[in-house]
Amino acid sequence: MDKERLEALEDYVLQHIDEESDLLKQLDRDAHVNLLRPRMLSGHLQGRILKMFCRLLNPRHILEIGTYTGYATLCLAEGAAHDAEIHTIEVNDELEDFILKHLHKSKLKDKIHLHIGDAMRIIPTIDCIFDLVFIDANKRHYVEYYDLIFDKVRSGGLIIADNTLWDGKVLDEPHHTDKQTIGIQIFNEKIAKDERVEKVILPIRDGLTLIWKK
Ligand SMILES: C[S@@+](CC[C@H](N)C(=O)[O-])C[C@H]1O[C@@H](n2cnc3c(N)ncnc32)[C@H](O)[C@@H]1O
Repeated sequence: MDKERLEALEDYVLQHIDEESDLLKQLDRDAHVNLLRPRMLSGHLQGRILKMFCRLLNPRHILEIGTYTGYATLCLAEGAAHDAEIHTIEVNDELEDFILKHLHKSKLKDKIHLHIGDAMRIIPTIDCIFDLVFIDANKRHYVEYYDLIFDKVRSGGLIIADNTLWDGKVLDEPHHTDKQTIGIQIFNEKIAKDERVEKVILPIRDGLTLIWKK
């Protein structure tokens, strides 16, 4: 399919799914005006998918690794039950004001616990067994995040990893300095071989891997 037709189809999809809330639209605009790399936020389609997973699975304890703006955090909160709790971890403390500005406008804010710091340090301090984990931080360290959270996910829980097709770069032999592509390739190989889980890659956006713990 040519690029123009693909874009038309993507627009068609967005016109035929649930709209984003006004708060998410504002947050998205604010990120595009004021932040570097606004494309990192999940966005309309992936946000509705994350919400839908929460509707389907009804997770009570959710962990997001890599908050960035809080866009996906709010989508997870929208789909989760009123008594669910969402822990989200962001290493970049310069984002804290941006995240809190939008979280505080949301009626879902009480479900969300924002942790500022390195996920590798913070995850062991959260005393919780998770029903759903969304891995979306440093691509170099996906394997380490996975190993760290695995025992903290219940049997039957779901791990979602974002960017697992990494703009198609997973197909190519990476330059030895391209640690992000190498990190994603190693992660994908590990998951493919891991018999403790069932897995599928959804070729949506930049690739979303769904990993279900047996
Ligand atoms: C792709 S963005 C997250 C997007 C967000 N999950 C969403 O879908 O809207 C990745 C974020 O992970 C953060 N990050 C990178 N390494 C991290 C770490 N070790 N611990 C916590 N956050 C990290 C980055 O600073 C960045 O804001």
